[in-house]
Amino acid sequence: MKKIYSNIYSFNKKTLKKTVKSLNLGNIASLPTETVYGLAGNAYSKTAVKKIFKLKKRPSKNPLIIHYLNLNNIKKDVILNKYFLKLYKRFSPGPITYVLKKNKSSKIKSIATANLSTIAIRFPSHRVIRTILRHTNFPVAMPSANLSTSLSPIKAQDVFDEFKNKINIIVDGGQSKFGIESTVIDLTGKPKILRPGIISSNEIKKCLNIHLSKKKSTIRSPGMLKKHYSPGIPVIIGKKPTSINHAYIIYGKKFNNKPNYFNLSKKANLKEAAANLYKIMRKIKNSGYKKIFVVKLPNSGPGIAINDRLKRASK
Ligand code: TXA
Ligand code: MG
Repeated sequence: MKKIYSNIYSFNKKTLKKTVKSLNLGNIASLPTETVYGLAGNAYSKTAVKKIFKLKKRPSKNPLIIHYLNLNNIKKDVILNKYFLKLYKRFSPGPITYVLKKNKSSKIKSIATANLSTIAIRFPSHRVIRTILRHTNFPVAMPSANLSTSLSPIKAQDVFDEFKNKINIIVDGGQSKFGIESTVIDLTGKPKILRPGIISSNEIKKCLNIHLSKKKSTIRSPGMLKKHYSPGIPVIIGKKPTSINHAYIIYGKKFNNKPNYFNLSKKANLKEAAANLYKIMRKIKNSGYKKIFVVKLPNSGPGIAINDRLKRASK
């Protein structure tokens, strides 16, 4: 049978070897994680990091998250603290990113972290990225595998649609379980959420037994850019569509089935809604709809993360 996507690989020993070799050479591969797919490169290699920024068309002032297997290899790169250790024990590996102070001995290339004195680190739980991290002797810088400001990919095909053959290896790890980017928490001072995610501020508060900071952050983050996560067509929140040429994103079971209605979760489950968000937005865009209307969603738990993405998509 003719192979259409010559750069999408299913995960096996051969793919592992090929991917590790490619990363060792300073090349970029797209890898699956439990949140979204990423563009991975050796965080200790300037060449590799530069390639990531170029591919994504990402502004150089927007820092990347550095991905590690476990605690063993981070001490040279960041300064640990008690909040981090508590959260790590409770939530990692998993969909949470910690911003910590950079260690002077760190080998992380400063362009990866936009010359900041901090580094964002994450310990992904997806089997594929963990296996790859086990076979490399460097951490992996990895932003979401989409062009700057557009929707994050949650399957190999999404990455291909965005970059075609500009990436040599896209490892297929199935659909990302959570479907939305990790929670980013700044732990360099009083803990503060920089980007809401599946792990909610309430869960974090409970774990640390403190209140989180609500102060406006001075740190520039692309996740903080007002326009982001854009499907490329207008998104209108809290209104109903007036035409069948407009898609309507709904939630819960009180809606009838209509061809232009897309339900994030019939069961009204916010976790399921988050996992479906980008998938549904892509589907709507690819079906040729010119506008997206969205119902108002509950603003609690994962709903906070969904509303954050929708709000930015609507800018
Ligand atoms: O779930 C995720 O986190 C995915 C997967 C691939 O791991 N990655 C991801 O990366 O979403 P990216 O680059 O699309 O978003 C990284 C976010 C941005 O908002 C960035 O500004 C913030 O993390 N960030 C990175 N380093 C930071 C730092 N030192 N201080 C503050 N924010 C930082
Ligand atoms: Mg991103």
